[in-house]
Amino acid sequence: MYPIVFIGAGPGDPGLLTLAGLQALEAAEVVYAPDPFEQTFAQILQGKRVEVPFDYGFAELVARLKNEAEKAPVAFLVPGDLTFYSPFQPFIDELGNQARVIPGVGTVNAAAARLAKTLDLPGVCNRAVIASPRTLGDGDDAPTLQDLARPGVTLVIYMNNLPLPELVRQLRAGYGCNVPIALLHRLGLPGEEVILSDLDAIVARVGDRDYFNLSGENRRPALTLVLVGETLTARPGGDWWDWRRENVWKHRS
Ligand SMILES: C[S@@+](CC[C@H](N)C(=O)[O-])C[C@H]1O[C@@H](n2cnc3c(N)ncnc32)[C@H](O)[C@@H]1O
Repeated sequence: MYPIVFIGAGPGDPGLLTLAGLQALEAAEVVYAPDPFEQTFAQILQGKRVEVPFDYGFAELVARLKNEAEKAPVAFLVPGDLTFYSPFQPFIDELGNQARVIPGVGTVNAAAARLAKTLDLPGVCNRAVIASPRTLGDGDDAPTLQDLARPGVTLVIYMNNLPLPELVRQLRAGYGCNVPIALLHRLGLPGEEVILSDLDAIVARVGDRDYFNLSGENRRPALTLVLVGETLTARPGGDWWDWRRENVWKHRS
């Protein structure tokens, strides 16, 4: 039996694959690759059988995987990283010891790098909250983004399915003031767009552009990540460093 390796593939740019991920991918003969990895990883995937995991039901795919892994290693390209919003957990559990997981660059990591901003900045932001309005739940008791948006919070919003004016209304009500917001669309992919604005200006700035795939026939979540909070534009400066060096990091004999 060969392993079935779930490789954190990053946001789509093969340059963000780890060395461990590349090694496992090179060894695999069959690769399950969701969109857009079949295209962006085409060079590394040459000569391999590439499958779309969403073409199969659970039982059918498990049977295929076990059969394929009798002959050679099998790999899955996990969008971003397994840590958040990955659809493959049932397969990993079912495969037990045969499954291996390799970490990758999550979209949030790539977004912070693209903006060149840390999302947790003591003195400006004291917590980061990762959420998706798709998975917050339904019903009167379900939290909303408005409940999560508070001064001092950096919000990382995956798979947004709210129209932008409604998203902004909820965030404005939660933060209670105007704060920076960034839309990061197709990070690391052809057609990448980054819009850094604030809650009061973003709706007019974006206009009719549908960054969340809300008007298309295919309602699959768009490749757009939303970041919100003061840390997106904060500039901590030398005093921030000096205080921390003096009180936290400086070596003391
Ligand atoms: C099912 S989740 C996958 C998240 C993934 N496990 C991760 O670690 O980033 C899909 C959502 O991730 C975000 N996303 C994934 N790839 C992206 C990219 N290249 N650019 C911007 N957002 C992306 C979008 O919010 C998208 O709707």
